Amino acid sequence: MRKKIVAGNWKMNNNKTETEALIAALSTKGSFSGVAVKIAPTSIHLSHAVEALSDSAIEVIGQNMHQAENGAYTGEISASMLQSVGVNSVILGHSERRAYFNETDEALAEKVSTAVTHDMEVVFCFGEELEDRKAERHFEVVERQLRKGLFHLEAAAWKTIVLAYEPVWAIGTGETASPEQAQEMHAFIRSLIEKVYGEAVADNVSILYGGSVKPANAQEIFSKPDVDGGLIGGAALNADDFFAIVQSI
Ligand code: 13P
Repeated sequence: MRKKIVAGNWKMNNNKTETEALIAALSTKGSFSGVAVKIAPTSIHLSHAVEALSDSAIEVIGQNMHQAENGAYTGEISASMLQSVGVNSVILGHSERRAYFNETDEALAEKVSTAVTHDMEVVFCFGEELEDRKAERHFEVVERQLRKGLFHLEAAAWKTIVLAYEPVWAIGTGETASPEQAQEMHAFIRSLIEKVYGEAVADNVSILYGGSVKPANAQEIFSKPDVDGGLIGGAALNADDFFAIVQSI
């Protein structure tokens, strides 16, 4: 059975005081069941977040990591560094990393392999740009991103892979893919995985939607059969909004 997941990607937001305040606010929220809730603060606050949420079911995850084990990569963090502070899951391939930090499909495939070697969960992001959708290339683009980033994995590795379809045109724009557009793409992704890896892998992989998910639209998006939750940006910076989204699943 695949998991329902709601994850908050805080991106480059929240200084120490703001991080502490948001975590404190999240901690006071009621319990939730049947959904895995995750937050991804920026890397220097991961350690604090893990400690502050040690009694909570909320899991702390990373926003990125480098593919090498260690070495001369100024400014980067490694899988074992994340794990040493209690972080065992990492977002990889976010469109902002691809666009602003030149992360290629090839580098992402290496990052995924490193995470899998470390038994880390990967929340793998992908999605088409507006021009791709207008030109009706969105299925092709998504298929290429998945093939290049993930399809080198053996079937067994897929137990720690979570997919996050984030159409670039819907990120931070207030424009959401319609629930039907999300379902159509998620069903396409699942059928692609079934073709390559078989039904068991396809049925068990959680596919999250990301892009302007808000309390007002979460329930309708999450009601679609192939949408297993969401990766939330802006609305994850407010504890009430984030929990309203968690409760929508
Ligand atoms: P928004 O929810 O702000 O559109 O961001 C989505 C996202 O990029 C999550 O990773």
